[in-house]
Amino acid sequence: MITLYCLLAVVCCLLVAVGCAGMEAPTPMKYKTPTPDPVDSPVTEEGSDMYMSGMDLFRENCAVCHGDKATGSDTGPPLIHEYYHTYHHPDFAFHAAVMSGVSAHHWEYGPMPPVPGLDKDEVEKIICYVRSLQRDSGMPVVPAC
Ligand code: HEC
Repeated sequence: MITLYCLLAVVCCLLVAVGCAGMEAPTPMKYKTPTPDPVDSPVTEEGSDMYMSGMDLFRENCAVCHGDKATGSDTGPPLIHEYYHTYHHPDFAFHAAVMSGVSAHHWEYGPMPPVPGLDKDEVEKIICYVRSLQRDSGMPVVPAC
């Protein structure tokens, strides 16, 4: 009986290992990691304030999956990635993602749930922060602030 349990345990481990091996590793980042605080990146004076609030809001609401600097984590993709250029994911894609969530379509992290409790202005600030990080990493994006 004990041998049977051992066998089952081994089979389970193997299945988990095979499952993990089958998962595609995230695409390596093509862009450099943003500098610690690219607060100079916003192009307008108002932009710096937006950037600072956006950074706080991003860290509270998004960083758990997308990482503090939007470079990704175990549970969500980097937003500093060619998928998220302004021409591929313009600002409205951010509003839509926050409001309604996102189905898993580019990655294998699973879907992004909607993030409640953020109004439009707050999302604009988050966009300012993320676009600034993207610019700072060398992505040719249209600045949001
Ligand atoms: C629970 C984890 C999680 C949280 C929290 C989260 N995201 Fe996501 N997000 C994801 C995942 C996973 C994807 C990728 C889905 C795919 O394309 O496979 C994603 C994708 C996105 C996209 C791309 C949308 C698209 O149309 O493809 C944007 C923009 C985005 N997130 C912004 C945000 C912002 C802004 C916040 C905070 C307000 C946030 N996310 C919080 C997990 C998360």
